[in-house]
Amino acid sequence: MLDLSSIMEYLDNSISSKRYVHSINVSKTAKKLAELYEADSAKAEIAGLVHDCARDLEKSLQLKYLKEEGIEADELTMNIKELLHGPAAVHICKSVFAIEDEEILSAVRYHTTGKENMSLLEKIIYLSDFIEPERSFPGVEELRSIALKSLDEALLGAFNSSISYILSTNRFVHIDTILARNYVLKEVQEHEKRCRDNSR
Ligand SMILES: [Fe+2]
Ligand SMILES: [Fe+2]
Repeated sequence: MLDLSSIMEYLDNSISSKRYVHSINVSKTAKKLAELYEADSAKAEIAGLVHDCARDLEKSLQLKYLKEEGIEADELTMNIKELLHGPAAVHICKSVFAIEDEEILSAVRYHTTGKENMSLLEKIIYLSDFIEPERSFPGVEELRSIALKSLDEALLGAFNSSISYILSTNRFVHIDTILARNYVLKEVQEHEKRCRDNSR
């Protein structure tokens, strides 16, 4: 795998400066959350850094990258550039950064939609992308403070916020986002039940 400074140099030359700052912020936020929730902080730092490496590419190139990786995208993903850059990034991660770690690749691939039954690293990257310090939307401060207490509760808040926004703008909600949200809601509810049972 390329070292972090070489990856940063590549990103600095291939994504906008705004997105570069965002990538550094997501990387730092992911590292902190990984330390807090006992995930692999080195993997979180890398995944956060590279997650948007395909964000500014032409749609045709993103589609080509998916094909080269043998990733079959559904119709909605194929038609929405904002959804394509997650799976397309897998190709750059492998071919340019020489990242082979499946956990990192999966966290990058699913950072736009989420998915059912997410791994700890996938949760951390999705949430870090949502709450990094430059993000500003109603409720982000609350999500940042929840993130310090419960990863799943913060993630649920992030999915709820994201889905509400998509609905309010009358766009399509990806099925993986709904499955991800329902799964994490179940995890939060089961955790609450265990806490109630233990306190009896
Ligand atoms: Fe992204
Ligand atoms: Fe991002």
